[in-house]
This record gives sequence, C-alpha cells and structure tokens, in this order.
Amino acid sequence: MTVSDFRLHDTTPAPAIANPARPLRRLHVITWGCQMNVYDSGKMADVLAPLGYRPADGPADADMVILNTCHIRERATEKVFSELGRLRVIKEQRAAEGRSTILAVAGCVAQAEGAEITARAPYVDIVLGPQTYHRLPEMVARAHRAAGPVIETDFPVEQKFDFLPDAPAAQEQAVTAFLTVQEGCDKFCSFCVVPYTRGAEASRPAAAVLEEARRLAARGAREITLLGQNVNAYHGVGPDGRDWGLARLIRALADLPGVLRIRYMTSHPRDMDDDLIAAHADVPALMPFLHLPVQSGSDRILDAMNRRHTADDYRRLIDRLRAARPDLALSSDFIAGHPGETSADFAATMQLIRDIGFAQAYSFKYSSRPGTPAARAPGMVPEAEKDSRLAELQALIRAQQDDFNNRSVGLEMPVLVTGAGRRPGQIAGRTPYLQAVHMDGDASLAGQIVPVKIRQSLTNSLSATLGLSATLIVPAFKQERASA
Ligand code: 5AD
Ligand code: SF4
Repeated sequence: MTVSDFRLHDTTPAPAIANPARPLRRLHVITWGCQMNVYDSGKMADVLAPLGYRPADGPADADMVILNTCHIRERATEKVFSELGRLRVIKEQRAAEGRSTILAVAGCVAQAEGAEITARAPYVDIVLGPQTYHRLPEMVARAHRAAGPVIETDFPVEQKFDFLPDAPAAQEQAVTAFLTVQEGCDKFCSFCVVPYTRGAEASRPAAAVLEEARRLAARGAREITLLGQNVNAYHGVGPDGRDWGLARLIRALADLPGVLRIRYMTSHPRDMDDDLIAAHADVPALMPFLHLPVQSGSDRILDAMNRRHTADDYRRLIDRLRAARPDLALSSDFIAGHPGETSADFAATMQLIRDIGFAQAYSFKYSSRPGTPAARAPGMVPEAEKDSRLAELQALIRAQQDDFNNRSVGLEMPVLVTGAGRRPGQIAGRTPYLQAVHMDGDASLAGQIVPVKIRQSLTNSLSATLGLSATLIVPAFKQERASA
C-alpha cells in the first residue's frame, strides 16, 4: 500500500430504511478520494434516506447518482468529465425508457470547478460543495422543478454537522467506522488545494462527536477513526464550555462503552501537542499506529512547502512519540519532485525514511495544482526525474513495509475481527498496526478482539491462526467492556 490513499471507492451506501410514506427511489454514490469523502458519501445517503432513497445495484438502476469527487492531484477535472460522459449515456438510456435520473456532482472538484461542470456537462442536475450536503433534500426538490442545474458551492454560515441526520436506526454498522471531527485547513502548504476547496479549519463540538460515537458503538462499531483534513488541530467546544483539544476528545471517547479502539488521521507535525503525545502513553484504546505526513526530508524543500518545521523537528517528535509508546508504528505521506527539489534534497528525504523506519507510507509525484503557490514556483522538476525519484522512494518504503510485516510473523497480537473473510470458514480482521489479517474462524466473532498468532506475511495481508486462549479470553473481555 505504498501508492496512494486516494484509492477509488465505489461505495453504495449501506441499506437505509425508507419512510413507508415515500415512494422508493434508488441511490448510487460513486466515491473518489480520501476517507473524509467516504464519510461524506455515507452522510449524503443518510440525508436522502428520509426521501425514500435506498441503495441501487449500480448507476443503471439508480434514480439518483452522486459522483463524490477529489481534487488533490492533476487530471481530477478531466477524470470527472470522463466519468460524467459515461453517466450521461446511462441517463439517456433511462430517459428513453421513461425513467428520470438526477445526476449530482459533489466534493472538491464540484467546489472548485462548479461553473465549468455546468457549462461543459449541462445534463448534470446538481453541483454541491462539501459544506452543503445537509441541503441535499432541498436541492433534489429544486432539481425536480428547475429547468437548469442547481449549484450550491458556498461556504454557508451554518455548520452542516448541525443539520446532518444520524444514520437510520436499523442501518447495519460495520465494526470499523469513520467519524469526521474537524474539517478544513489553515496550513496552506505550497502544493495543496485543500485550504481552498475545504475552507478554514472548523471543529465540531465535542458533545456532538461523543453522541455520534455513542450511536456508532451502540450499533456495533468497535474501532473509530477520527477524521479531519488536519485532525490534530481539533479544537472543539467541550461539554464543559471549555476548549477541548484532540487528546481530551480521545480520552472521553475511550470511556464510552463499546469503543475498543481509536485512531485519528490526518495530522500535521506542528499540531502534535504534549497532551496528544501523552495520550499515546496512557490511553490503551488509542492504537499504536500513527499517520503523520512529513512530505520531505530536506529543510530547504520543507521551507518551500511552507511546512514550518525542519526534518530534525520531525525526528525529535518521533523520538518523543516513541518514548511515550515504544511499540508505535508510523506511516507518512511523501511528495517526490516538489518545485526546486534537487537530487541532494531527494537524498535527504531518503535518509529521513531510513532514519525513521515506516510501517507503510503513501507517496506521490508532485502534481501542479492551479491557484497554489507551488504552481507558480520556479524549478519545476522534469517528469522523468519525478518518476525515477518516486520509484526509488516507493522501493524503499516497500522494503520497510515488508520488513515490518515479516517481523510480525510469530507474534501473538490482539486482532479486531471485522467480519467474514474471502473464503468460506475464514474471518478477517485488523491488528493494532492496521495490518489486514485473515484466519480460519467463526464470523460470529465479528466485533470482538481476539488473540491471534501471525503465521505468514503475504503481499498485502497477514495470515494467522486464532490463539488458543481466544474462547477463554473473549467473553471475559467483552463483559469487562460492557460493564465499563
Ligand atoms: N501533488 C502531489 N501530492 C500532493 N498531495 C497533496 N497535494 C499534492 C500535490 N499537489 C499529497 C500530500 C498530502 C496527501 C493527502 O496528498 O502528500 O499529504
Ligand atoms: Fe494540505 Fe495537509 Fe498542508 Fe493542510 S496540512 S495544506 S491539508 S497538505
């Protein structure tokens, strides 16, 4: 998993319960981009559930299709138009059969390129930015009435989270869940569009986050990943009226019955405060795996990137985190070929990777984003050079990842069972270090943490056997948590 966290998700929402008074309609959501988009897609499905929308089998079967887009790297807009071309054909086929289709474009490309989308793809009915999902039902009603497209890409004064409904009570909840606690970013890294597409940093009130976590846990979520573009900049108002940082929020979440594991992503090194480092030492539910992007190991490039820390600042921070939690495993993001990057700068990045040792990392070729300072910076690195640096960096990360996984073989680890595996009789789960594991076992173990012996490291997963103590430990463990 060294290539991209911007995996392509084709997420159809989990079954929603329709309001019996409403006619049944079908919804298909296509999700590109980060985990925050995955979370947003789920919320859009929740918002539309009271209108009678339930998951479709695919776009051809859908009365409404939402394309939730990502703008982080090049060719994002072209990719959207090519997908829209495909969806247009489906919409026309359905129209010929007398069935109408609402086509909506959401996410960061919609935010940044709303006008271009409606000009080039007039068959799109709704264009909505990430801050306006709560207004979707109203937009759908307007789309039914309107002759032209409905566009909502403002940053509204109201907080969308105050208006987003909870998922329908009967909706099946996965063992692992995302929970967005913070959005936007004020860091303005030279290369990044996020501060422009997602706007300024904003944190949800802690009580709202805790309430959502309580509901997720009540429906079966056992591992919660707190999401934010810059999640460790979280500063929400606490139930006591005071300012709560992320560490305070994590401590309160860890006290909720049923919440067995907590993670958070994505963080900025400058927002890693003392309390958060301490939480890694004293909150057992906080998993010993941290995604902490550094982007480069060269001080010159870190400065050009406006990261506002040095490579040694990052090394010292990791030392402190490892002192707090000695078994901490790390992940990061790297950019190869930022404007001005020389081969000596790149060598410094490779040295940083060797110094730290990562369990995994995401790495990207620098891609110029219009409107960002780096797009206007001198010293663009030739494409072929970027390619070869990226390949070299990914080979090193891959070797570190393989080494990390190989060192897991023979260990007994607590694994959270997430559900059935690919083969009959197999179950799947996650280690504390976010490694995917599969083993023989009963799917009724889903949602439980079981001791597992790691037997083999495969390309993207580990194979394991259930520990002998599994049946003895699990009921006691469950009981202890339930009475917590
Ligand atoms: N080019 C390449 N990679 C980028 N990222 C963000 N913007 C760009 C860009 N213009 C990467 C960074 C960030 C991750 C989410 O995407 O590494 O941490
Ligand atoms: Fe983009 Fe992250 Fe930098 Fe914010 S901190 S500008 S989201 S790379």
